[in-house]
Amino acid sequence: MAAISLTGVSKTFTDGTVAIAGLTLEIGDGELLAVLGPSGCGKSTVLRIVAGLEVPTEGQVAIGDQVVTEVAPGARDLAIVFQDYALYPHLTVFDNMAFPLKAKRMKRRAIDQRVREVAALLGIEALLHRRPRALSGGERQRVAMGRAIVRSPSAFLMDEPLSNLDAKLRVQLRSEIRTLHRELGATFLYVTHDQTEALTIGDRVAVMRRGRLQQVDDPQQVYDFPANLFVAGFIGTPPMNLLLAPVEQEKGHQVARVGNWRFPLPEGVQASEIVVGIRPEHLGVPGFLHGYESSSAQEVTVLETETLGSVSLLHFPIEVRPVLLRDDASSSSFVVGDSPTVVIAAADAQARIAAGSRVAIAADVSRARFFDAQTGAAVGQRRPVSTTPCVKAL
Ligand SMILES: Nc1ncnc2c1ncn2[C@@H]1O[C@H](COP(=O)(O)OP(=O)(O)O)[C@@H](O)[C@H]1O
Ligand SMILES: [Mg+2]
Repeated sequence: MAAISLTGVSKTFTDGTVAIAGLTLEIGDGELLAVLGPSGCGKSTVLRIVAGLEVPTEGQVAIGDQVVTEVAPGARDLAIVFQDYALYPHLTVFDNMAFPLKAKRMKRRAIDQRVREVAALLGIEALLHRRPRALSGGERQRVAMGRAIVRSPSAFLMDEPLSNLDAKLRVQLRSEIRTLHRELGATFLYVTHDQTEALTIGDRVAVMRRGRLQQVDDPQQVYDFPANLFVAGFIGTPPMNLLLAPVEQEKGHQVARVGNWRFPLPEGVQASEIVVGIRPEHLGVPGFLHGYESSSAQEVTVLETETLGSVSLLHFPIEVRPVLLRDDASSSSFVVGDSPTVVIAAADAQARIAAGSRVAIAADVSRARFFDAQTGAAVGQRRPVSTTPCVKAL
């Protein structure tokens, strides 16, 4: 077992593509760190650099207390699981799993015992005599994980291992991977573009955009206290509503005003306008809103509703300018659009609100987050952002 650390790692490919810029990240011994970000943000490159499949242009990679930046992949004692299982089609499941042990010249009896032990851990004992083509996608991915586990490597690297599976199987394997991580107690680097997967699987989540680390924190902290507008808009479905609001004085305090809603600001805000971030679940119909610190309600006209069973998503315009995230290659991650903003509230479905109706919506103002309108950085975080790795207690 070993911690993995990247220090000041950058990777520029020969064609000039900057895949990673100045990445410093530590994965604690026994920790499962999920690296999350949109396609092309550099997740696979991070994993490939840790694996030794790419050499960084700058910076250092260490596994345990050994610097491995220039060490060949085979000498790093890591196991990698990719999206496309990469099993040997002509070998049985047993032989696929036994392969890395045979390569290490382990005795046949020891191989047999180890393969059966890992197969039992993954619930695939009954499949040992089959060939990959006679397996479902989920079974193949379990075999691929089994082949990685038999060697007892010092860490596991997984690159979107569930992306080829259907939604239901993904949910099931997600929890199996967590259980596996707990049972093995090993260090995991888990790469995914799927936020639900990252938040449910990770002890901590590292969010990336365009080769740069945006935030690394435990999943709840990333959701509750996004470090900047990119993270705020990327995490959560539907995403956080982001509104540009004027800053006003009210009874000696500063507030951000969005129509009738008044959001009390943290101390020390100097700007004349600020971005207010409020999640759909913190907006709702008074009487149905579970928040405790709600503002006065404001009347809106509902444009559209989406029923999700427990909640109903209400879309309505508010006369402020929206902050829109950009997913193109531009260096700024956001731009301010034209008024109005179409805001989404996740109202209790029991309120039974139809499109076209006028309805009063309240905001749980204690749950609002604020961002600098120039830089996009969070203003007045209430909990300090942790920088040291923390491993969940078992
Ligand atoms: N061998 C390569 N040569 C040039 N550009 C590459 C190479 N591999 C990846 N890239 C580019 O680097 C960026 C990051 O890629 P990647 O790490 O695969 O992203 P992700 O896994 O997050 O989708 C992308 O713009 C991608 O096109
Ligand atoms: Mg990738």
